[in-house]
Amino acid sequence: MSAEEASAGTEVSVVGKEEGEEQQVVNPWEVSAGKGGIDYDKLVDQFGCQRLDDALVARVERLTARPPHCFLRRGLFFAHRDLNEILDLYERGERFYLYTGRGPSSEALHLGHLIPFMFTKYLQDAFKVPLVIQLTDDEKFLWKNLTVEESKRLARENAKDIIACGFDVERTFIFSDFNYVGGAFYENMVKVARCVTYNKVVGIFGFSPEDHIGKISFPPVQAVPSFPSSFPHLFSGNDQLRCLIPCAIDQDPYFRMTRDVAPRIGYQKPSLIESRFFPALQGENTKMSASDPNSAIYVTDSVKEIKTKVNKYAFSGGQDSIELHRKLGANLDVDVPIKYLNFFLEDDNELEHIKKEYKEGRMLTGEVKQRLVTVLSELVARHQRARAQVTEEMVDAFMAVRPLPNMFG
Ligand code: TYM
Repeated sequence: MSAEEASAGTEVSVVGKEEGEEQQVVNPWEVSAGKGGIDYDKLVDQFGCQRLDDALVARVERLTARPPHCFLRRGLFFAHRDLNEILDLYERGERFYLYTGRGPSSEALHLGHLIPFMFTKYLQDAFKVPLVIQLTDDEKFLWKNLTVEESKRLARENAKDIIACGFDVERTFIFSDFNYVGGAFYENMVKVARCVTYNKVVGIFGFSPEDHIGKISFPPVQAVPSFPSSFPHLFSGNDQLRCLIPCAIDQDPYFRMTRDVAPRIGYQKPSLIESRFFPALQGENTKMSASDPNSAIYVTDSVKEIKTKVNKYAFSGGQDSIELHRKLGANLDVDVPIKYLNFFLEDDNELEHIKKEYKEGRMLTGEVKQRLVTVLSELVARHQRARAQVTEEMVDAFMAVRPLPNMFG
């Protein structure tokens, strides 16, 4: 039995509770863990994915002839499924395509949402491959209390933030489900749907009998962009083209199901490269939430808001008094400012220096937070400038159903 088959029918979205331990829940709609934060090792074992080790990172570096992205170097993308197969085919001179997405549930993205898009941009540049980006406006209509019109509007607004990450219009197709689902895409959806029993979908996603059937029937929608035949205007005649999906590990259940079904309908399994969560300001036991403004920094925040949030809410691993801190130093394992710098401070040497000084008590929480405020303010200001340049015509261009002129160029 494959790892997918083994886990596809069990309660894999919930990682089991051991004695004295709080339960950790990771699925596309909920991420929560006990005080110690998410146990990613346990998650990898439970989900049946593979660890992304240094040898694989070195291989990416060699094949792309460029330094690996800091999210890779620092183990923030930490798990995968069959990434080695994608690298094998690339090494043989073959190509693949990238697929990622966003569920447009809010006007503004938070910094956690930017992680997969920043990383996908790096992958697109490094491997020179086409990319499809799904905006699941239907998913958010089904899960949130939104009208169809509002979901569609948010999808378009979110597309602007995605475009602002710098994607190449000649290699990128962005689509909203409400606008695109039909034709070959829909044919693939029903092929997937026929392979997944009610029991299986309940096992994978944890649906309950009270959930409406809109939720239960949604997973094939997110599954089928993994298959090139869902995009005849892009990949016609190329039905076996492999697909690589960058995302955070909360999306894994969708693709466990997809990989389970793919060979049964004559398609290739998609590969995945999966990240940890950019944590909430309050700490590692959850991810940022779009519905709790004080848990997250948004791409629309002002410098003042960033400063207030970091200073007021970012959980510190520093000691209670300066004397104690100088003596004992900070606990970096729980310190949120350090975790944030780990994602966004690009200079490896400076990061190491800050960690060492802070851990040994020579640097104080206030100083680390100050550096973080500068790093995040610059990042957010850069994003806001790029987004201001995105016009309605550009959104139309990315979302037009068209062949991509420079797919593998
Ligand atoms: P959504 O909108 O919840 O999230 C968009 C992407 O951001 C990732 N993500 C995070 N990454 C790091 N840290 C965080 N705190 C964090 N929060 C969210 C998500 O894993 C996701 O990659 N159903 C999906 C949309 C979707 C999709 C896909 C995502 C459709 N097709 C294919 C990935 C791949 C959703 O609602 O994502």
